[in-house]
Amino acid sequence: MVTIKKSPKVLKYQFKSFEKLPTRIWKNADEASVHVAQSIALAIRQKQQEGEPIVLGLATGSTPIKVYDELVRQHKEEGLSFQNVITFNLDEYYPMQPDAEQSYVHFMREYLFDHVDIKPENIHIPDGRISMDEIGKYCEDYEKKIDAYGGLDIQLLGIGRTGHIGFNEPGSWENALTRLVKLDALTRQDATKDFILEENVPYRAVTMGIASIMKAKKIYMMAWGSHKAPIVQKAIEGPVSETIPATFLQKHPNIITILDTEAAGELTRVKTPWLVGLCNWNKDLITKAVIWLSITAEKPLLKLTDEDYNEHGLSDLVVEYQSAYKLNIEIFNRLQHTITGWPGGKPNSDDSTRPERATPAKKRVIIFSPHPDDDVISMGGTFLRLVEHGHEVHVAYQTSGNIAVHDHDALRYLEFFREFGDHNSLEGENLLKKLTKIERFLQKKKPGQSDSNDVRLVKGLIRRGEARAGARFCGLPDKQIHFLDMPFYETGRARKKPLGQADIQIVEKLLQDIRPHQVYAAGDLADPHGTHRVCLDAITQSFQNLQKEKWMKDCWLWMYRGAWHEWGIHEIEMAVPLSPHELMKKRRAIFMHQSQKDSAPFPGSDAREFWQRAEDRNMETAKTYNDLGMAEYEAMEAFVRWKDLD
Ligand code: F6R
Repeated sequence: MVTIKKSPKVLKYQFKSFEKLPTRIWKNADEASVHVAQSIALAIRQKQQEGEPIVLGLATGSTPIKVYDELVRQHKEEGLSFQNVITFNLDEYYPMQPDAEQSYVHFMREYLFDHVDIKPENIHIPDGRISMDEIGKYCEDYEKKIDAYGGLDIQLLGIGRTGHIGFNEPGSWENALTRLVKLDALTRQDATKDFILEENVPYRAVTMGIASIMKAKKIYMMAWGSHKAPIVQKAIEGPVSETIPATFLQKHPNIITILDTEAAGELTRVKTPWLVGLCNWNKDLITKAVIWLSITAEKPLLKLTDEDYNEHGLSDLVVEYQSAYKLNIEIFNRLQHTITGWPGGKPNSDDSTRPERATPAKKRVIIFSPHPDDDVISMGGTFLRLVEHGHEVHVAYQTSGNIAVHDHDALRYLEFFREFGDHNSLEGENLLKKLTKIERFLQKKKPGQSDSNDVRLVKGLIRRGEARAGARFCGLPDKQIHFLDMPFYETGRARKKPLGQADIQIVEKLLQDIRPHQVYAAGDLADPHGTHRVCLDAITQSFQNLQKEKWMKDCWLWMYRGAWHEWGIHEIEMAVPLSPHELMKKRRAIFMHQSQKDSAPFPGSDAREFWQRAEDRNMETAKTYNDLGMAEYEAMEAFVRWKDLD
């Protein structure tokens, strides 16, 4: 069962809080964002009734986008007016032209200001064009202007992976006001998603200071996604320190931290709730606790003693099970039963304790791959096995993946095409004109500029060729390789459009055509641009829409994790072991994705190549299974079943 969406239940009494910031956890970022937007809308309306202005401190980045979406919706559908709203943005890159695509001016217009009735003179965003000589005075004036309006009524904040708020990076002082700052290396890496290459990201920014933020009357700090979980835990549970500037917020009298389940994943009450208070134990939570104990005590499951349980706050479990021995065996068996070399089910055998059904012996399978390489990176070994076992495997590449191809690779292909034509004296005036146009575009392209449609097509085709090579290597005939080119992805930028009906219909149609018994999808919710999440949403929404179809009763959805992180061991429901030979074959399938090798654009903050990440992760999973007392395998791919329709 998928447990990621539910936070473990902790009984209200005997609650020992580790949290120094008031925190509310929501099921997902959408619901949380609507809640924050509603609170802001309420405050705006209250001030309107009193005939007063309201001063909002605004943030940019991926975090507040859905809050702005909801405010725009309320403006359009519920008449929420912004006539009395005065805004001050937290920060801006420096130097930065306001009309540049990456500027926070552009961002705010795109997501909020162009869609509501705010007065232009009420908008304040630090100006990235001010000269070095004048910037000090400019910052002082920015601060004074906020004070002159009576200070910020509400401040919206995201949190960076360095623990920054605004661009107050580690080392920022508590009494710092608006000023010019240097950006941390990790922040620049994270910003690469908007600037395409890290070298295009400015080194500096103008930001409101910690003290400017602390003056706000009410603060909402938000965070979504598991990539934020470690820093969120430190900000909420750690000591106040300059090394994590967000911890200064612990001193604010009126702040609330709003998290989705994944961002809350490292909080003690979520990760190890038995250390916080009495738990409402269920099978999933017991499994999580016993596996945690085994890893913490560095002992295999079957060697855990009553004392180990007692010493680690888990004595209730020993009482309930009468002895550690019985419990150890139960969890050992549960974990043992997740292991199978038959991901499509083992024909003619008892499947009562196996992860997959024995029948039908030959299944129709769709592997959905958000980008044209996640199939082999994340489940290449299982892919190879499914084909080898004779299942009818289809692979569906959900997006074109075109933004992750270097310009020089696109040029190489264009030149190849031109020279091939020359060598064979091929005529084709239109084609030549087109090639010249695309080459010219690439030669003149400015750093950070979005690609033209033609260039995106070329880059998308490069990835298609690689994906086809990878899938063929895994044994698929061409008719079982599908390219969905979902439209939400096609912005030419790292930031994508929201999931639309057209996207869902494409996925739904493929499901209807194939009527699979097994579907594999990326359940990876931490990829840097959120593409995997949107791709998963398209699949789960299609499942909802198709739930009345008869064939759906036999259709199971398995989720794998992408290149970024693995499932928790306690969550895994199917673990497919790979031999050293299979691991090597998987590596070769990943090698087919040449444009993503060595230094792909947008690899995230991990410098390892995709095949290395995949191998390290698969070997780590096998090692943990072995440490827990299971047999020793070279590597393992892990899956969790999606059961929300049950
Ligand atoms: C943005 C800002 C930053 C971001 C933070 C998180 O105006 O000041 O502090 O809030 O970097 O960024 P995202 O939301 O993109 O994860």
